[in-house]
Amino acid sequence: MRKLKIGIIGTGAITGKHADAIAEIENAELVALCSSSPERAKAAQEKFGIDTYADVSAFLTHPELDIVCICTASGHHLEAGLLAAKAGKHLLIEKPIEINLNRADQLIEVCEENSVKLGVIFQNRFSADYLKLKVAVKEGRFGKLLMGNAHVNWYRAPEYYGNSPWKGTLEGDGGGAFMNQGIHTFDLLLDVMGDVKSVFAKVKTALHSIEGEDLGVAIVTFGNKALGNITASTALYPGLPERLEIFGKNGSAVLEAGKLVQWSIQGEESEPISTGKNSGTGAADPMAIGHALHKTQWEHFLNAVEKNGPVLVEGKMARKSVELIRAIYKSSELEKEVELPFIDHT
Ligand SMILES: NC(=O)c1ccc[n+]([C@@H]2O[C@H](COP(=O)([O-])OP(=O)(O)OC[C@H]3O[C@@H](n4cnc5c(N)ncnc54)[C@H](O)[C@@H]3O)[C@@H](O)[C@H]2O)c1
Repeated sequence: MRKLKIGIIGTGAITGKHADAIAEIENAELVALCSSSPERAKAAQEKFGIDTYADVSAFLTHPELDIVCICTASGHHLEAGLLAAKAGKHLLIEKPIEINLNRADQLIEVCEENSVKLGVIFQNRFSADYLKLKVAVKEGRFGKLLMGNAHVNWYRAPEYYGNSPWKGTLEGDGGGAFMNQGIHTFDLLLDVMGDVKSVFAKVKTALHSIEGEDLGVAIVTFGNKALGNITASTALYPGLPERLEIFGKNGSAVLEAGKLVQWSIQGEESEPISTGKNSGTGAADPMAIGHALHKTQWEHFLNAVEKNGPVLVEGKMARKSVELIRAIYKSSELEKEVELPFIDHT
């Protein structure tokens, strides 16, 4: 069996989760790393013991690379992605795909033009409890959907922003709690509830010394006429487990930190609701998550590359959560309801 050879660009906090996940997969091997800082590149070489580069173009000359995984600051996924796709490498990019729609679209286009796969890491899509909820909704067991809510009321200590200077900046992070933290649960909300028709939102910076928001609320109207409310924050100590709440005419379900904690369907007998397998919550500490769901998403992506099959969270799907958040920011700025599809002029 030929192993698919992987290189990672970016050697920050999340890179270790990918390295741990890849190390546990039989048909995959991490062969190269790239860091924009020579010191980090050297530290990564010592830690992982593999070829390490301080320059993306040099990294892409590695003779074995099949797949490039991008783990740089969110607002710098594009530059690395363009070079890697043009070099014919498949791309698995950390969330968000990019920080605005113009940049996301360039990534989607370059991958199409160069016939390479594009996947975006949203590991919570692979939690067993989430999949159970999604299947039940799609089978109509909850009936017509009435309301879908996403709450990511988290806390980050000030050092979180101090240690990664791009976090909470408009250029590096594209915003704050919505674009960086909330996006995981918004992605699930969109996957279950379908497309959004309009949003009315208010976001603000309440606690941290950052450019982006650390507190916000949004009222959502979905295309299927269901309503929803969204909250996200990194200012709410101690940080509560994130929640996805789905209400249909026949019942309701709540996923908390990736586990089902509520499941009631009229006319159906009660059943044990949680299968238990998830990756924990980043409610108070971003690195408190395990790598199990990253591993599951990697296995899925490797299979798609090997068999030339579909990618589950491909570029256009990952674009939807960015579109929602960009519309939320615009609504807050204009103090009025904003319709989707959203035209992003940035
Ligand atoms: N899936 C998840 O649960 C999860 C969790 C954390 C982070 N992430 C995502 O992973 C990515 C990295 O986050 P992190 O927490 O590891 O950040 P980090 O600050 O720990 O590391 C960022 C990396 O990007 C590099 N970098 C910074 N600015 C750059 C630039 N201008 N050009 C090129 N490289 C640059 C840094 O050198 C570093 O290697 C982000 O997109 C983030 O949203 C995902």
